[in-house]
Amino acid sequence: MRTGVWLVGARGSVATTAIVGGLALRAGLTGPTGCVTELPDLRGPALPTFADLVFGGHDVATTPLTKRAEALAAAGVLPGRLAAALVADLTAVEEDLRPAPTGGSQADRAAAIAAELTAFRDRHRLDRVVVVNVSATEPAPATHPGHADPDALRAALAGTDEVLPPSSLYAYAAVEAGCPYVDFTPSTGLRLPALAALAAQRGLPYAGHDGKTGETLVKSVLAPMFAMRNLAVRSWSGVNLLGGGDGATLAEPGANAAKVDSKQRVLGETLGYVPQGGTRIDYVEDLGDFKTAWDLITFAGFLGTGMRMEFTWHGCDSALAAPLVLDLARLTAAAHAAGRVGPLPELAFFFKDPIDSPTHSLSTQWQRLVDFTRELHAGGAG
Ligand SMILES: NC(=O)c1ccc[n+]([C@@H]2O[C@H](COP(=O)([O-])OP(=O)(O)OC[C@H]3O[C@@H](n4cnc5c(N)ncnc54)[C@H](O)[C@@H]3O)[C@@H](O)[C@H]2O)c1
Repeated sequence: MRTGVWLVGARGSVATTAIVGGLALRAGLTGPTGCVTELPDLRGPALPTFADLVFGGHDVATTPLTKRAEALAAAGVLPGRLAAALVADLTAVEEDLRPAPTGGSQADRAAAIAAELTAFRDRHRLDRVVVVNVSATEPAPATHPGHADPDALRAALAGTDEVLPPSSLYAYAAVEAGCPYVDFTPSTGLRLPALAALAAQRGLPYAGHDGKTGETLVKSVLAPMFAMRNLAVRSWSGVNLLGGGDGATLAEPGANAAKVDSKQRVLGETLGYVPQGGTRIDYVEDLGDFKTAWDLITFAGFLGTGMRMEFTWHGCDSALAAPLVLDLARLTAAAHAAGRVGPLPELAFFFKDPIDSPTHSLSTQWQRLVDFTRELHAGGAG
């Protein structure tokens, strides 16, 4: 199943690591550590193989992929030997990267993006193209009457208003080009009534939001533990320190608010109440792509006895995120091939703020994912 993986933000750290990783897996230069779709419970014939994946994408930046890979290798995010061994393959992918369209109305820009997606699918004779947003996090957009339904949206896009934030313009173009869409960021993406209705009309599946790779991943394991033991969590405070492009973006208050919101949801929804405390994200340039999270949890047990727990997470953000981008592309392609339409709550396992998923518990999400992939491999799940 030849599958295009079209990355919005294709020259960013997560995208570059996903491309290098996908090419290295195809060439047999590395193993699939970190790719959950290669676990025995999920592996199977419904998923495109790594050799089936063809990469392309959009970015506003112009730094060549080979340079981005070298920089990530120098920062310790990926092995230098891979950046060196894959120069020819990365140069070939460069041919399928496009600058983000500018000028004209938003309808013109969406049409240009959709045309590039269709041309990519035709050029490589792909069965389908999955569009994955790994672009910089955006602030939440102002509401607009054009968000309400497809007709209002089309009329508004032809005007002079900036109706959609960039993530949603790419989502709209993806849907118009018949491509499933995955949002790995907390940005709005397809989460607007007009876009959800359009995806349903076009028979497309979609998934999101915001990859779960660090502090929230740990929270989604620990919070159910406190709930199941009937321990009362009184406060849960976290401080996240990160550098890199994502850290720089999150230094901007609007983007920071979007991310913090998405990180806190797991607690209220798992515990059934919101403990005191909050999550903070601070930009520390020197940390590069390596993130530190410190969490302090205070809780009460039998007879009100107070206790506390602390944890520290030192993660390499892109090394944690990139294999999940490959997993999501493979699973969403298989869901599309099986005829699935609309949101894919079975992929909640991957996200901090999953669409249409009643649970944030990692173990429950895992079981749902295993059942889903089993059905896909058995020729069902449509
Ligand atoms: N790394 C993780 O563990 C993780 C986890 C969850 C979510 N995310 C999200 O993934 C995204 C990417 O993270 P990153 O570390 O690669 O960030 P990054 O800053 O390295 O990359 C973002 C890329 O998006 C590009 N971009 C910005 N605006 C664009 C536009 N309008 N059109 C096309 N491209 C555009 C930038 O030029 C850049 O190359 C962020 O939104 C981040 O919040 C990352």
